[in-house]
Amino acid sequence: MSDQKRDVRNPLLFECAWEVANKVGGIYTVIKTKVPVTVQEFGDRYCLIGPLSYKTAPMEVEAEEPSDPDVAATLESMRAQGVKILYGRWLIEGAPHVLLFDTGSVYSRLDEWKGDLWNLAGIPTPPNDHETNETIVFGYLVAWFLGEYVARQRHTAVIAHFHEWQAGLAIPLCRKRQIDVTTVFTTHATLLGRYLCAGSVDFYNNLQYFDVDHEAGKRGIYHRYCIERSSAHCADVFTTVSHITAYESEHLLKRKPDGVLPNGLNVVKFQAMHEFQNLHSTAKAKINEFVRGHFYGHYDFDIDNTLYFFTAGRYEYRNKGVDMFIEALARLNFRLQKAGSKTTVVAFIIMPAATASYTIESLKGQAVTKQLQSTVNEITTRIGQRLFEHAARSNGDHGTNPLPDDLLSEEDKVTLKRRIFALKRNALPPIVTHNMVDDANDPILNQLRRVKLFNASYDRVKIVFHPDFLNSNNPILGLDYEEFVRGCHLGVFPSYYEPWGYTPAECTVMGIPSVTTNLSGFGCFMQDLIDRPQDEGCYIVDRRSRSVEESVTELTENMFSFCNKTRRQRINQRNRVERLSPLLDWKNLGIEYSKARQLAVRRAYPDAFYGSAEGDDEFYFTGAQKIDPISVPASPRFRGFGGLATPGDLGTLTEEMQRLATSDYNGGGYQWPGGEEEEDSYP
Ligand code: UDP
Ligand code: G6P
Ligand code: GLC
Repeated sequence: MSDQKRDVRNPLLFECAWEVANKVGGIYTVIKTKVPVTVQEFGDRYCLIGPLSYKTAPMEVEAEEPSDPDVAATLESMRAQGVKILYGRWLIEGAPHVLLFDTGSVYSRLDEWKGDLWNLAGIPTPPNDHETNETIVFGYLVAWFLGEYVARQRHTAVIAHFHEWQAGLAIPLCRKRQIDVTTVFTTHATLLGRYLCAGSVDFYNNLQYFDVDHEAGKRGIYHRYCIERSSAHCADVFTTVSHITAYESEHLLKRKPDGVLPNGLNVVKFQAMHEFQNLHSTAKAKINEFVRGHFYGHYDFDIDNTLYFFTAGRYEYRNKGVDMFIEALARLNFRLQKAGSKTTVVAFIIMPAATASYTIESLKGQAVTKQLQSTVNEITTRIGQRLFEHAARSNGDHGTNPLPDDLLSEEDKVTLKRRIFALKRNALPPIVTHNMVDDANDPILNQLRRVKLFNASYDRVKIVFHPDFLNSNNPILGLDYEEFVRGCHLGVFPSYYEPWGYTPAECTVMGIPSVTTNLSGFGCFMQDLIDRPQDEGCYIVDRRSRSVEESVTELTENMFSFCNKTRRQRINQRNRVERLSPLLDWKNLGIEYSKARQLAVRRAYPDAFYGSAEGDDEFYFTGAQKIDPISVPASPRFRGFGGLATPGDLGTLTEEMQRLATSDYNGGGYQWPGGEEEEDSYP
């Protein structure tokens, strides 16, 4: 398969994911935030491949002609056969090339490709699984493109990097067709893991015992599982985003990952340290405005002594730990009441569900407070005019002060009374901002009903469930997600299944404290790097070695002690948490991707390396960046990775270590059930 003439020193990179220019969840964040460092390394030799969504593409991509004549010729040939394609620049920082395929344009070939997939790889596909159909068409298009491209362009090595099963099908196709590319597959979860955890299974204690085919079959996802597993097995290099998911992949996908590529963010440093604190203040003022409207008629708490907690993400009730969040909020409510606390907590749950628009009550709340505000502004102007008139006519006699009745006219009083009357409300402030399609069976609403968090006046914990992602164009809570996070005080993400978990990571770089668990990739990553993460505003609840009851108690305690902090302590904690951001910066973490790619090139073209005069390791580690000691905070400890940017696995991605299989992702202090015995079974 390998073609010795290809230049392996300056390879081309195609990075392929379903979320390229197409936002769904965290994978979009991985791809988008990583672009600047990848463009820095590859420049014009980098192109992303994704599906063409006509809804989002016009906003995300600017069409352009390919400068590479072989790409142009390949696309022309595909277009001639009916494939609709958008090639251009993705309009994000780094402005990379992007190639989007319209899967709908070639659905006529779906059955032919399904037959081929069965003959080639023995993967069955049921007729009505839309997601799988999309995956198949997309996979065949990508393999078609790569195959035709490398047949034309024969001078430079090509790395094809794929994320997640929905983009992975091209990997077995490339292998079966012997397409001369080297492949990397990064999984951001496993299908079975997500499904098993969403049910009530003791997942982590039983990982090595699941009968994977049976479990996949039982859940109707056997065909998807086959695609995922074949992507993992056929890739030259197989990676995942955290140790916890590496362990899971080994047992559920039956291939031990070659290494872990932790997720980073594009960290923007402000000139002045206090800048992000100011952003908190201005964003909080906008949330205050929403809260006044939402709680109209029952706005009897002190907004200056109100804290905003939130959780956010795709609606995975159990996996994202919303069940634990609500239970802990109920207990927090009780503890605050018992302690006679004057603090109010407004807890937001931002998770998209099926809805039919906003509720009238939510819209009305914002409308009546806006009207009140504008009436007050008008009256204030008139009072000002009258006051001025009175003072101007005093002719130097400072003894004559105006009476209140001279300033506030009868008409003003009536208008104000009307506005105040409109604030009267008999029902309690709503829990949910939208009309839910299935209100009666919604798990979040049902749990809130069970624990009786109804926004009563005596409740110290109030709830706002916003069953949609945020957007600054929304008529209520009109903020972008980032602005909303900045305005809050604490993010709470007590996940049970979370391969990485961008939401707490994003809090960290914005200087907002957060709670996560040691069952999330991010939580384990921080725990591994920092001695006492809770002191830095990064709370990690133990869901691994404790019972559910104990974990709920720990979470409640964390939130309760947060409520008892003074403003000064909160400001300090925000400063401390923000100082952790270099740990999550792609400038430091991007190196792991480079290593995975280099390993892939090396595996596909071994003869180009062994015996090379330049020496293997010298080439292999080019681009490795050391963490700048000044840029890391004082307290984090770095365990055993010799000053290099990424914890733990430097060795994992070298073939030497692969052979020795001594240092791997199970190291670094992770103890999993059966982990130790299994270690011995590795060659
Ligand atoms: N997010 C968003 N708008 C929202 C809530 C969340 O854009 O209103 C984004 C958030 O910034 C994060 C992503 O959704 O980058 C969720 O990623 P995460 O890794 O936490 O979870 P996933 O959905 O991938 O399981
Ligand atoms: C930032 C601002 C301060 C403000 C504070 C409020 O630090 O710079 O001016 O007082 O936020 O903090 P809080 O935790 O009460 O929202
Ligand atoms: C997946 C995981 C999430 C992770 C994201 C990016 O969607 O559910 O935990 O952060 O991918 O890797």
